[in-house]
Amino acid sequence: MSVDVLLGLQWGDEGKGKIVDVLTPQYDIIARFQGGPNAGHTLEFEGNKHVLHTIPSGIFRKEAINLIGNGVVIDPVVFKKEIDKLAPYNLDLKNVLLISKKAHLIIPTHRLLDAASETAKGKNKIGSTLKGIGPTYMDKTGRNGLRVGDIFSPNFKEKYQTLVDKHTSMLGHYEGFEYDLCDSEPEFFEGVELLRSLTCVDSEQYINEAIKAGKKILAEGAQGTMLDIDFGTYPFVTSSNTVTAGTCTGLGIAPTKIGNVIGIFKAYCTRVGSGPFPTELFDADGEAIRQEGREFGSTTGRPRRCGWIDLPAMKYAIMINGVTELSMMKADVLSGFDTIKACTAYKINGELVDYIPFDIADHEIEPVYIDLKGWKQDLTGLSNYNEAPQELKEYVSFLEKELEVPVTVVSVGPDRSQTLNTK
Ligand code: GDP
Ligand code: IMO
Ligand code: MG
Repeated sequence: MSVDVLLGLQWGDEGKGKIVDVLTPQYDIIARFQGGPNAGHTLEFEGNKHVLHTIPSGIFRKEAINLIGNGVVIDPVVFKKEIDKLAPYNLDLKNVLLISKKAHLIIPTHRLLDAASETAKGKNKIGSTLKGIGPTYMDKTGRNGLRVGDIFSPNFKEKYQTLVDKHTSMLGHYEGFEYDLCDSEPEFFEGVELLRSLTCVDSEQYINEAIKAGKKILAEGAQGTMLDIDFGTYPFVTSSNTVTAGTCTGLGIAPTKIGNVIGIFKAYCTRVGSGPFPTELFDADGEAIRQEGREFGSTTGRPRRCGWIDLPAMKYAIMINGVTELSMMKADVLSGFDTIKACTAYKINGELVDYIPFDIADHEIEPVYIDLKGWKQDLTGLSNYNEAPQELKEYVSFLEKELEVPVTVVSVGPDRSQTLNTK
């Protein structure tokens, strides 16, 4: 049995959490393969709204196993808060949540280094979520990191202290950066204690045995393709591989085991944090999308930058990921616009370009738009795609033709139930 992958095609927050939750009944295992508490995946069902950061979005479907893979970075402090919030659901976490022993730990000084680095960058800051993601992946590739499996070692505290000492010496280089580490250490060790009480496994063994046994697995991406460390709008990216290839390294599965790749995108586009965003709107349309779409970060609460859909970026993301089907999210947010615009190419120094240039961050980019007819109807009560307004169907057909991949799902509201199958 192969592993299906679900991931974001834009700059994150496409609605991955919602669709993973919707799809979970079709799978035995949901596995996160990268990122960490920088992610905020929102699920809504039965009047509950829930934001997950580290825990996979299949957790509310009692039959599924949820696995946090080796490619994820875990902050025990955030993780404990997430677990505490699950208390009302009476989940059998010891059996339904598995954590890779090879996943790296975010320690309090990683968060401090993230903040110090962003402050030092000034106006060139990445707009990091300040969760310590960059410094933790740096320690991973620098071969200094602490992993979940280390918490079972008798000298864990020594290993921790060695890393803290390295970090405090680094923090000393950031002039004027003040901090008090004592405040955060007790809750870090409480989080570690909680991790020790849960089920930590050799996840690559577990998942490959599950594949052999014919289990159905869905890999859940975090962030989005345009935030990928290699293929995103570098340096304004996160520090992990958010693309399909990240599934292989972040879970320990072979490329030959990848099945369907479901690409999630919004009917428009958003970005939070700094960096290029060719179709960003600074006008009333952008503000209308932000208000109607409630475009404020799930993790940081920051207003998201809003704009029209960017087809060159989408085509690029589809190419890099090998996307086999698409889910279009937040179609309801565009109701009421007379005209919906789609960017089909960029104009750079007077020349038309239909791909993502290497130095996208250094150019003044003028998007070239095509106008499509909008729809007036409120979509949030729709239960059948056949009843959708003709203009929405035409928008979807236009995208399918441009992107050469079928749109199998159109989402018309945040709730689990507001999900339409188009085929
Ligand atoms: P993720 O990080 O990709 O899981 O996405 P987020 O949860 O950060 O952001 C998506 C936001 O849009 C959340 O607040 C969702 O509840 C909400 N959402 C998801 N799908 C839809 C939709 O079809 N319509 C509307 N209006 N909201 C949606
Ligand atoms: P989900 O999984 C949107 C952005 C940050 C910043 C950049 C680097 O919810 O889609 P980092 O903290 O990773 O060093 O920040 O990446 N970013 C996200 N934007 N959704 C996310 O996750 C994001 N995770 C990181 O805003 O610009
Ligand atoms: Mg999010």
